[in-house]
Amino acid sequence: MDNSAIINEAAAFLASKLDGRKPVAGIILGSGLGTLADKIADAVTVPYVSVPGFPKASAVGHKGNFICGNLGGKCVLAMQGRYHFYEGYPMQTVVLPVRVMAKLGVEYLFVSNAAGTVRQDWEVGDLMLITDHINMLPNALIGPNADEFGTRFPDMTVAYDSQLREMALAIAAEEGIFLRQGIYLPLSGPCYETPAEYAFCKFAGADTVGMSTTPEVIVARHCGLKVLGMSVVTDVAHEAGDDYVTDENEIIRQADAASKRMTRIFEQLIARL
Ligand code: HPA
Repeated sequence: MDNSAIINEAAAFLASKLDGRKPVAGIILGSGLGTLADKIADAVTVPYVSVPGFPKASAVGHKGNFICGNLGGKCVLAMQGRYHFYEGYPMQTVVLPVRVMAKLGVEYLFVSNAAGTVRQDWEVGDLMLITDHINMLPNALIGPNADEFGTRFPDMTVAYDSQLREMALAIAAEEGIFLRQGIYLPLSGPCYETPAEYAFCKFAGADTVGMSTTPEVIVARHCGLKVLGMSVVTDVAHEAGDDYVTDENEIIRQADAASKRMTRIFEQLIARL
């Protein structure tokens, strides 16, 4: 089956499970950030494994469900967990859910990730609105262009929608939530970075470092979705001479602790779309 047929079959299956719901926004919940899904009312849950063409999501802290229902008075389709390149999936699989959501008619994509910060003066638990990215993963659009979704050479000047960013900043100010802004850079993982690699990311201009997000954002922009991205800072980059280790369970715990604030911003933003 070619990729287009896989996308169409998955979209038709998912549509058949949504009881006529028409989501306007897709939400991808990163590691430890799945609790936003608890705020979705009148929800229908569809496990990824039940969707044709969708493999089981295996990453720690990722449940692997679509949750469709009402958030901020609008119909949303949230992904509790995502597919990562480091799990060994081809990029086509990593971005498959985004294309399926686009087929279902979503106009907006909200993406989140747990990330390390290379800013030594930032703190664990900080939220960072992604203003731009430096994609260090293989480009998800490599291969024959999916003409039905977009052009061969899509523009990435404003990958993260400026109006949505302004709205997010206004909401954060109103809600008294401290919201940083900066640039996200993913490396493949699955190991965390060495001090030299964190220093490299900082030198390159990044503020947060992770293992995801840019494939989905690139594909979302390719098919014309408006994107809002947020990093939740779960650890501060190690520097040469540090002797402590990055603990994946602590990262999930920190993401979970910060997820309430991220959820408030997403919910308010969706209410104002
Ligand atoms: N590096 C890469 N990915 C991550 C990190 C990090 O420090 N923290 C959470 N995800």
